[in-house]
Amino acid sequence: MFKYQITGGVPLAGTVRVSGAKNSALKLMAASLLTTGKSVLYNVPLINDVYTMADVLRAIGATVIITPDRVEIDSSGELSHTTPYELVRKMRASITVMGPLLARLHRARVAMPGGCNIGPRKLDFHFNGLEKLGARIHADHGFINVATNGLTGDVISLDYPSVGATENLMMAACLARGRTVIESAAREPEMIDLAKFLTSMGASISGAGTETIVIDGVDELHSATHTVIPDRIEAGTFMLAAAVTGGDIEIEGANPRHLEIFISKMRAIGAAIDERDDRIHCRAAEAYHGTDIATLPYPGFPTDLQAPAIVLLSLAQGHSIVTENVFENRFGFVDELNRLGADVRTSGHHAVVHGQSRLEGAIVEAPDLRAGAALVLAGLAASGESEVRRIGHIDRGYENFEQKLQVLGADIKRVETGDLAPSAAPFN
Ligand code: EPZ
Repeated sequence: MFKYQITGGVPLAGTVRVSGAKNSALKLMAASLLTTGKSVLYNVPLINDVYTMADVLRAIGATVIITPDRVEIDSSGELSHTTPYELVRKMRASITVMGPLLARLHRARVAMPGGCNIGPRKLDFHFNGLEKLGARIHADHGFINVATNGLTGDVISLDYPSVGATENLMMAACLARGRTVIESAAREPEMIDLAKFLTSMGASISGAGTETIVIDGVDELHSATHTVIPDRIEAGTFMLAAAVTGGDIEIEGANPRHLEIFISKMRAIGAAIDERDDRIHCRAAEAYHGTDIATLPYPGFPTDLQAPAIVLLSLAQGHSIVTENVFENRFGFVDELNRLGADVRTSGHHAVVHGQSRLEGAIVEAPDLRAGAALVLAGLAASGESEVRRIGHIDRGYENFEQKLQVLGADIKRVETGDLAPSAAPFN
């Protein structure tokens, strides 16, 4: 296993290029199962979740070649409808192979991903929608079995704009008979990216990015090439890195239109943000104002930036109330952050952040991906030495994280801990 050794107090400055979006790339890889051709994806971030998804696709029978500039997926061979437990357990996003396998093979057997550090992560929205399309679903021995004699389009009203359910249903509906309407659909930019890829494969989709997505089923899809959109969560993470370290960072390749509410909150807190079509510049302020934040489905404040934003609010003048509306248990990192000198109290979905903390280096442990990034930011802002352990979580979702920070002046090193990796770290 590895940890980060950090010496904080250095203002980060310079230019960093954001990678392709993890939460789009993984689904685009799954969507490649819908065709018997060879699809090519560009701007895929080389992160552990991408390697895990490649292993899932290989276990199903696809050929996956990953090179620094692209990922080639050839699913023209005989596919298995079963995904292995040990891979799905590692990464919840594997569940998005269910829609494509059901559409293509009329059946799928996917290990239940189980809960993780940020909540139970149920799948009822996925199942209810697939049943509406004509799937029969039953669970046995920790696996979910879905089967159909043929999917038929229908109107699906989601109880909640679930990202994964919207993606699974969009992919399944592409090969269903007739029209599917997904109401209360997720509106994240990753939905638009997936719809663009599916459309380039021959699907008929309209409304992606709005709360109503219409899919007219087609008989078959062909292979396509696609470039993944930039990772808005990584871009927001580097904006916060500039703010918490008193720095000045240009984030190249970022799309400010994917972060509108986040940018307006950063300005309310006091950071100076300049936006261009394909870059965002963030300059720190002398002082920050306590500001209340409530996470919401897109276009609301992204839950994936809640933990890193609390680090900035810890440094602000005055108190802030942060409400986590998306996940059941996403304040797990607060105890670790308080060990660095922050003063955050939580109660249910609310966290009260007492500002003006002087963060001091300490040894902390990353509980999950985004909390791990938040603890790195806190270590960079703190005075003295910090260690962030269990950074395998961070390796899942941030490409070349320490290298990008080092280029910006951060004193951060990846060091072996000598411990064995945990058998199945809870993933989200
Ligand atoms: C995706 O997770 C992202 N992961 C998450 O990013 C992100 O935080 C989340 O969307 C919200 O934006 C990937 O895309 C791989 P949801 P997903 O379905 O699809 C509940 C990161 O750090 N729910 O919108 O799982 C669920 O428990 C990760 O990159 C049900 O109750 O999100 C949660 O409370 C973390 N039943 C809420 O809805 C269901 O059937 C949002 O889940 C599905 C979800």
